[in-house]
Amino acid sequence: MTRTARAYTNIALIKYWGKKNQQLKLPYTNSLSLTLDRFYTDTKATIINADKDIVYLNDKLLDNTQNKRILNYLETIRNFYSFSDHFQIDSVNHVPTSAGFASSASGFAALAAAINETKKLNLSRREMSILARNGSGSASRSIYGGFVEWQAGHDNASSFAVPIDETPDIDLSLLSVVINQHSKKISSTVGMENSVKSSPFYPNWVTLVSSEIKEIKQAIAQKDLQKIGEISEHNAMSMHALTLSADPSFTYFAPETIRIIQLIQELRRKGLFAYATIDAGPNVKIICTKESLPKVQTYIEQQLSDVTTVVANIGPGIQYI
Ligand code: DP6
Repeated sequence: MTRTARAYTNIALIKYWGKKNQQLKLPYTNSLSLTLDRFYTDTKATIINADKDIVYLNDKLLDNTQNKRILNYLETIRNFYSFSDHFQIDSVNHVPTSAGFASSASGFAALAAAINETKKLNLSRREMSILARNGSGSASRSIYGGFVEWQAGHDNASSFAVPIDETPDIDLSLLSVVINQHSKKISSTVGMENSVKSSPFYPNWVTLVSSEIKEIKQAIAQKDLQKIGEISEHNAMSMHALTLSADPSFTYFAPETIRIIQLIQELRRKGLFAYATIDAGPNVKIICTKESLPKVQTYIEQQLSDVTTVVANIGPGIQYI
């Protein structure tokens, strides 16, 4: 019986923001993430007797424009492994858009693992990370649990994620503050391309990431929570500085994003552990400790009436169910 593959989302503490090769999704820098337990994608691939793939997402058949990216990806996989089978893909996203997490990381990681299972490719997790990366860069990291580093590499075979600590004994939780449920206007793919092309600070970003990766790995090894928080927040703000300094300038921030950043600064002045990280959208993820989280959550909800908050903890790598 063919098993369903499950992959969890991840949040980058050191962001991936810019590709040197668009097609292979080879990044300019390494990146580092934490896999989360709350949100995941379940995907099953069944070989069908047809010359086209069909894709169901959350039990709905996707039309060709909706699933162009997935269809192209399946074609890439066929070319990689020299087979001609077509598939019915059944994918269920337990990553509600309302939780403010992108589903492409868990989506492409689960799809890579599902094809591996159905076609009995016997891929190692490293090979699966390479395959997932070809769907979406951040998906390369969702193969593993806990803290994960994606090593940039220089070609298809050398760009993959590696686990740093899959079951870290560390007191970190994440509070996602969702302020806006509309889908983002500038995709991360386009946003990072514009930043690379036109931000005068892009070369500095590459230098910054290489030192922040070293520092955060040291902080993780030493379980230095404050360092992890400080580096993560600084890295996220530096990524968003690349969008503001692009030409033309753009931003993922909404007015509420700035408000939440200010509230987090206030919370720190009150002595609570809270650091912000923000992806290619307006929602803010707050890095907390188990102790600070309920207080941070109450404060944010009191100050802003129109937000939803979701708690996530550290999650595992790919599973088959
Ligand atoms: C801000 O992985 O969605 O979340 O490779 O073009 O599919 P593509 O981009 P994607 O970008 C993620 C950007 C980010 C930072 C991160 O997850 O590292």
